[in-house]
Amino acid sequence: MPFIIEPMTLEDVDTVSAVEKECFSITWPASAYRRELRNPGSSRYIVVRHITDNGASPTQMEKEHRRSFFSSLFPFRQGENGHQEGPEIVGFAGLWLRLDEAHVTTICVKPEYRGKGVGELLLASLFDIALDLGGSWLTLEVRVSNYVAQSLYRKYGFRESGTRRHYYSDNGEDALIMWSESIVSPSFQAELMRLKHDLREKLTKAESRVGQGT
Ligand SMILES: CC(C)(COP(=O)(O)OP(=O)(O)OC[C@H]1O[C@@H](n2cnc3c(N)ncnc32)[C@H](O)[C@@H]1OP(=O)(O)O)[C@@H](O)C(=O)NCCC(=O)NCCS
Repeated sequence: MPFIIEPMTLEDVDTVSAVEKECFSITWPASAYRRELRNPGSSRYIVVRHITDNGASPTQMEKEHRRSFFSSLFPFRQGENGHQEGPEIVGFAGLWLRLDEAHVTTICVKPEYRGKGVGELLLASLFDIALDLGGSWLTLEVRVSNYVAQSLYRKYGFRESGTRRHYYSDNGEDALIMWSESIVSPSFQAELMRLKHDLREKLTKAESRVGQGT
């Protein structure tokens, strides 16, 4: 597994802001992420890192790959100038819970890492986090023109429930409001397990493509 999910930390915020600029025309100030991380309340933010074997022996790499699918256990390596450095952050996501509704606040993947299952990995992780927090549904807004993101959400059972007119301040575009199925239902849990199984294979294949530079 070449990608791992970890909780976002204050040390990640500058990199997260840089990734965000590559992904969105409207961005949050870095201070907003810092505020969320300092006072998490019912919000949670995660990053996805790409593990390379740069500097790590095959044995170390194998150990990392065997770690839990959605774990946050990767031990950071020491950087050259002494500070703690982890593998590259290639995407991030977040949600906040109100009652039993988990609102997805952001999800994005660096352009060069798209189409490899990383967005799915983030979204599947958000489902797990929402369940841990006691959520029963996920909901989000997405630009009406953002067919790629809508396709991702539909794959995970989200359906349209309405529109917010002129929701986006940069171009006045409407937002689709989408809701998941009940994430605690046995049928959804079974479907999520199936999707994760397929995702594991997709990410493993992606590793060989990343390794070949495609
Ligand atoms: C939306 C986004 C997170 C998807 O991430 P990703 O890593 O490229 O997506 P994945 O490789 O995990 O693909 C998952 C699903 O997304 C959809 N998808 C991904 N790329 C697609 C494309 N080029 N065309 C159509 N659908 C696509 C498909 O449903 C895909 O499932 P499939 O492989 O079974 O067809 C990414 O495109 C992104 O960061 N976009 C910019 C930020 C953004 O728009 N965020 C959403 C805000 S609401």
